[in-house]
Amino acid sequence: MVQIPTTYLNDGTEVPMIGLGTANLKGFQGVNAIKSAINIGYRLLDTAYNYENEGAVGRAIKESAVSRKELFVTSKLPGRYHQYDQAIQTIQESLYRADLDYYDLYLIHWPNPNQDRYVEAWQALLDAKKWGLIRSAGVCNFLPEHLTRLKEETGVLPSINQVELHPYFNQNEQRQWHEQNGVMTQSWSPLALNKDLLDHEIIRLLAEKYHRTGAQIVLRWHYQLNSISIPRSSNPKRQLENISIFDFELMEEDMELINNMTLVDGRMNNLNPAEYEEF
Ligand SMILES: NC(=O)c1ccc[n+]([C@@H]2O[C@H](COP(=O)([O-])OP(=O)(O)OC[C@H]3O[C@@H](n4cnc5c(N)ncnc54)[C@H](OP(=O)(O)O)[C@@H]3O)[C@@H](O)[C@H]2O)c1
Repeated sequence: MVQIPTTYLNDGTEVPMIGLGTANLKGFQGVNAIKSAINIGYRLLDTAYNYENEGAVGRAIKESAVSRKELFVTSKLPGRYHQYDQAIQTIQESLYRADLDYYDLYLIHWPNPNQDRYVEAWQALLDAKKWGLIRSAGVCNFLPEHLTRLKEETGVLPSINQVELHPYFNQNEQRQWHEQNGVMTQSWSPLALNKDLLDHEIIRLLAEKYHRTGAQIVLRWHYQLNSISIPRSSNPKRQLENISIFDFELMEEDMELINNMTLVDGRMNNLNPAEYEEF
C-alpha cells in the first residue's frame, strides 16, 4: 500500500499531502469509487454541501475497511448560508448527511465579497471547532485581502486555503502569501480537469524523461510546491496512479519548466473570487 506523507497545519492538525476530490461522485457508483480509493490507500476525502454527495462519502467510509479516525474528511459551507446561525445549522446538517460525528476540516466554499458575510461565516466555523463539530477550520478561494480581513476581525487565519491551482495557473503570489502567513495551500482541479493538460508537450516530455505518466508528473509538481492536491478519479487504476508519486523527484529545472506554463488568464472558467460568487 502507498504510504502518503502528512504535514501539520497551523492549528496542529495532521493532514495527508494528497487526497481524493469527490465532485460528481454520487449514488451507488460514487460510493464504489470512493470506497475503492480508501481501500487503495487514500485517507483524505474532499466533499462539499453543494456537491450533494456527503451521503455517498459517509456511506463509503462505513463500507470501507478503514476506521473513521484514520480518515481525514473535509466538507464546505455554501455561499447561501454565511449568516452565523445558518452556518452552524449547515455544519450540523452536513454531519447528519454523512452520518459523521465530526469533520476533520470544514471550509468556507467561496468568499462572495459582494454578499460580504464571510467574516460571520468564519466566526461560525471557529465556534464549531470549539464545540468539536470540526477539527480544523479553513477556506477556499480567498484572496489575500479576504484572508487579511479574517485576521484583523477575528485574530485567526484559516489552516488551509483551497484554491484553483494547476500548471496553467500556478498561483505563485497567492502561495507566497500563504507561506509567509502559515496558511497551507490546497490545489483544486489539480489536473485542470484533464481537458488537454496531460497532452501538453512539456508534460509529455517530462513523463518520458521520468518514466511516469503525465498525471504523476503534475501531481508530483504540486507536492514539491508544498500544496495538498485532491485529484478526482472514479477509476481505481488511475486512483492508484495518482497517489504513486512519492518515490521519485522532479529536478529544479523541470519544476521551472512546469512553473513557466502558467498563463496570466490561466483560470479554467474565469472564476476570479474578487467578482465571482457561488451560492
Ligand atoms: N473549492 C472549490 O471551489 C473547488 C472547485 C472545484 C473542485 N474542487 C475539488 O477539487 C477536486 C478535484 O478537481 P476536479 O474534480 O475539478 O478536477 P481534476 O481532479 O483536476 O480532474 C478530474 C478529471 O481528471 C480525470 N483524471 C483523473 N486522474 C487521471 C489520470 N491519472 N489520467 C487521466 N485522467 C485522469 C478524471 O477522470 P476519471 O474519473 O475518468 O479518472 C476527471 O475527469 C474536486 O473533485 C473537488 O473535490 C473544489
